Amino acid sequence: MGEKSFKKGFLWGGATAANQIEGAYNEGGRGLANTDFLKYVAPNERRADEATFEQTYASLQEAKAHEDTYIFPKRWGNDFYHHYKEDIALMAEMGFSVFRMSISWSRIFPTGFEEKPNEEGLAFYDKVFDECHKYGIEPLVTMLHYDFPLAVCEKLNGFESRETIALFEKYVRTIVERYHKKVKYWLTFNEINMSLQSLSTCSGAMRDHSLKGLDEEQLTFEVVHNMLLASAKAVILVHEIAPEALAGNMVWKHVYYPKTVRPEDTLQQIFDMNLNYYFYDIQCKGVVPYYLDRYFEQKNIKRNYSPEDIETLKKGKADFLSFSYYMSNISEYQGEPMKFTGLLPDQSRNNPYLKMTDWGWSIDPVGLRIALNQLYTRYGLPIFIAEFGIGMYESMDSNHQIHDQGRIEFVEAHLKQIKEAIKDGVDVFGVTYWGWIDLVSSTTSEMTKRYGFVYVDADDYGKGTYNRYKKDSFYWYKHVIETNGSEI
Ligand code: BG6
Repeated sequence: MGEKSFKKGFLWGGATAANQIEGAYNEGGRGLANTDFLKYVAPNERRADEATFEQTYASLQEAKAHEDTYIFPKRWGNDFYHHYKEDIALMAEMGFSVFRMSISWSRIFPTGFEEKPNEEGLAFYDKVFDECHKYGIEPLVTMLHYDFPLAVCEKLNGFESRETIALFEKYVRTIVERYHKKVKYWLTFNEINMSLQSLSTCSGAMRDHSLKGLDEEQLTFEVVHNMLLASAKAVILVHEIAPEALAGNMVWKHVYYPKTVRPEDTLQQIFDMNLNYYFYDIQCKGVVPYYLDRYFEQKNIKRNYSPEDIETLKKGKADFLSFSYYMSNISEYQGEPMKFTGLLPDQSRNNPYLKMTDWGWSIDPVGLRIALNQLYTRYGLPIFIAEFGIGMYESMDSNHQIHDQGRIEFVEAHLKQIKEAIKDGVDVFGVTYWGWIDLVSSTTSEMTKRYGFVYVDADDYGKGTYNRYKKDSFYWYKHVIETNGSEI
């Protein structure tokens, strides 16, 4: 068997999300989105005991009451809406063959409830896709990456309601019909499993505003079930409307190591991994697995799948699998009944063998090889790595140069492990580095948590020129693509 490496035609690119780049929140007929109310929380105001995600999400009422004083950076993003031509040219210069982006639902249906879509919103994405194709860049489009029309959140509490599934289907039908000649790769929901960690951001449901008066855990699994159904329906729609296109899922991949060789810690690891596999099993195999039943019973969480739902899930299986990977976690047995480590605040990232980013995320390239092997062994589907990346504090020198050697080392270490996984026999067909251009952070709404190969001159408060500058990593990644990773 010859040396295996990145295959010919391997898709190299970068990833983004509408709410973190577009800005122009009140232009082009776009309606308000929940993400327009995610406030900036300064580092010294963050609490360690709660996911940062949740801290940026004041209640909508509170956010509205403080609209004049709170900072809502996702309203301006990195201003892609006005810079898209320049940004796509930069991607082309780096040699991207794929650009992962998402469509803003409220640009297409401003409240979610309209019968007719907003033509100006549709036309914007036409322009973006056309610009990509001009350079031979394939758009890989996430249908929903955390931004919901505000009215869907306020009236239906996001995916708590099954009515939201129907509204989402209408939106999916509209975009797939409109763009089926321009988009070959679709992803349904970004990180569908993150609802377990941040309900409001990922599912549009506010935890203390349940329409049916559900407690937080019941509400969480209610929205999870509805989102899994909506995802399956979206896959079915893609298959019907655009049989030549491929529809994938997208899950935050948790990699867990048992804290010690104590057998119970491995039990905990299996338990933790199952909560992650739950999403892949439903989306990739089309079956609802048994292994959460005991947990549901202990927590008195009711399941709500009807026989029709089970059929939908069976039919709406993903064509390929995608995931995001940022760090690994540690599983430590906590006694019975078992609790999921992944649902506890960040204490599980403290691995003495690994370094951490400035935001306390463990840096674990080998974990990426593990993730790829775990997923390919279990599902055998072609894999697209939709996100990996590193957030760093950085600044420009007086010559507009940004020396981000740390990012180069991080990316190189991860690409090496992808290559190892390919040698292990895993079928990886593409990768999009997260935040190829600086953008607003999802969890903290900071601009200063910079991921990009391209620097955007803007601060946390929206001040700056928004000019783009190439960092050292820009040239390095360009070379990686030119050589199809052969020198990695
Ligand atoms: C992923 C999300 O969870 O992580 C992205 O899909 C996000 O939207 C990325 O930006 C990195 O997280 P953060 O909080 O550093 O922006």
